[in-house]
Amino acid sequence: MKIYVTENYQAMSRKAANIVAAQVILTPTSVLGLSTGSTPVGLYKQLITWYEKGDLDFSQVCTVNLDEYVGLAPDHDQSYHYFMQKHFFGHVNIAPENTYVPDGLVSDPNTACRRYNQIIRDLGGIDIQVLGIGHNGHIGFNEPGESFELETHVVNLSERTIDANARFFASRDEVPRQAVTMGIKSIMQARQILMVVSGGDKADTVKAAFTGPVTPQVPASILQMHSNVILVGDKAALSQL
Ligand code: F6R
Repeated sequence: MKIYVTENYQAMSRKAANIVAAQVILTPTSVLGLSTGSTPVGLYKQLITWYEKGDLDFSQVCTVNLDEYVGLAPDHDQSYHYFMQKHFFGHVNIAPENTYVPDGLVSDPNTACRRYNQIIRDLGGIDIQVLGIGHNGHIGFNEPGESFELETHVVNLSERTIDANARFFASRDEVPRQAVTMGIKSIMQARQILMVVSGGDKADTVKAAFTGPVTPQVPASILQMHSNVILVGDKAALSQL
């Protein structure tokens, strides 16, 4: 595992963007596994800046996102489709038909999961998977206790997650109860993992994930078993390592 400690969030974003940019430059047909959440926003911003300068070309790149809420239309401002459009896809020359985000709107989400696994296989697998980490060690929507053996699957959101998300919606009733997420098995099949983390509030989580026992209680701890992980974090987030 390679660890890069940076001064702050901005430097973390730049370092992580360097790694993704190198992947795209060396292999223009790369398959990028992408994540939402606040942490990778700076990374996407940096990639957009380099694209605008003419230093990066995404025309042959394919992307697969980690997760999506069940029941939200792509144009809902809390959907991950919308997030990706707003923070990345809408600003670079990536072909819309090459961007994949799980479909949260199909009547049978389990079918959507099977289809998504097949999409990843048909693309030849993921070259580099960008990950954030939740305070409880979750990756994607894989919460503590989730099996390490699953590919893309439907998860029921915990009451805590529903409560936490309620602020983004008009009412608690509107918060989705389920999500589709790549499973730990799908994530572990990526050829390279790039985890980005920022802020002292994640320091204990990072310590548990990378120096503690490998256990489903800390989903990110499974990354200790992956042979090609890059952890890029600011010094506050990595202070306990
Ligand atoms: C996002 C995702 C989540 C986030 C995690 C950290 O697609 O799957 O696991 O990576 O919740 O979120 P932030 O970066 O907002 O702290």
